[in-house]
Amino acid sequence: MSNTFQYACDKHRQDRATIRQSVRNARKSLTCEEQKTAETALCINFSQHVKPPKNAKIALYLSNDGELKTNKLIQYLIKENHTVYLPVIHPFNGTTLLFQKYEENSPMIHNRYAILEPELNCSHICPLYSLDYLFTPLVAFDEFGNRLGMGGGYYDKTLANYYRNNIAKPIVFGLAHDCQKVEKLPIAAWDVPLQHILTPTKFYTW
Ligand SMILES: Nc1ncnc2c1ncn2[C@@H]1O[C@H](COP(=O)(O)OP(=O)(O)O)[C@@H](O)[C@H]1O
Ligand SMILES: [Mg+2]
Repeated sequence: MSNTFQYACDKHRQDRATIRQSVRNARKSLTCEEQKTAETALCINFSQHVKPPKNAKIALYLSNDGELKTNKLIQYLIKENHTVYLPVIHPFNGTTLLFQKYEENSPMIHNRYAILEPELNCSHICPLYSLDYLFTPLVAFDEFGNRLGMGGGYYDKTLANYYRNNIAKPIVFGLAHDCQKVEKLPIAAWDVPLQHILTPTKFYTW
C-alpha cells in the first residue's frame, strides 16, 4: 500500500471519528427538558408524515447515548395496533442484528453495550424482509441520506444486501435530533444510505 493511500485511509477514518465525537457531544448536551420536547415532537411528526399500513411490523430501538428517545413512539405504535420489534445482536455471528417482537412485559437483558434488548426467543424473531419499516439509530446524517453510526457497522452488515437485492421491504428510516445533521459525511463503500430521516421537526426523503 502506498504512503499516499495509507494517509488518505487514515484521514478518512479520523474524519469520521471526529464527526462522531462532536455530534455525540452535541446530542449528549441536550437537557432533559429538550429531550422530552423532542420525544413528543417526534410522535407528532411521525403521525403527520409516516403512514404505516394497518397492523404494520415496525423495528425501532431503545435510545442510548443521548439519542432521540423512542419510548413514546413505541407506546404510540403499539396503541395503533402495530407490532414493534427491537434489535438483538445475532447470538452466533455477533455482528448483525435480528429483530424480535417487543411488548410491554417482554423479558429484557443488557447486551454487550449495556443496551437493553429482548431476551432471545426465536419464535418472536421477524425476518428482515417481513418488516414494513426499519428505524435505525445514527450519530450523524447528511443532506444526501448518508448515515454515520457509532462505529460498529451493525446496521450496514445487517442491510448489506438490501439495495443489491432490490427488495421493497423494509423501508429504512433514520431517527435523529435535528442537531445531528451535518453538511456532507465522509462515507465508506459499505455504508448503507437511508430512504427517509425523521427528526422532531423535519422529514427527509431520498
Ligand atoms: N457489509 C459489511 N461487511 C463486512 N464488514 C462491514 C460491512 N459493513 C461494515 N463493515 C465493517 O464494520 C466496521 C464499522 O462500520 P462503520 O460504517 O464505520 O460503522 P457505523 O455504520 O456504525 O458508523 C467497518 O470497519 C467495516 O469494516
Ligand atoms: Mg456505516
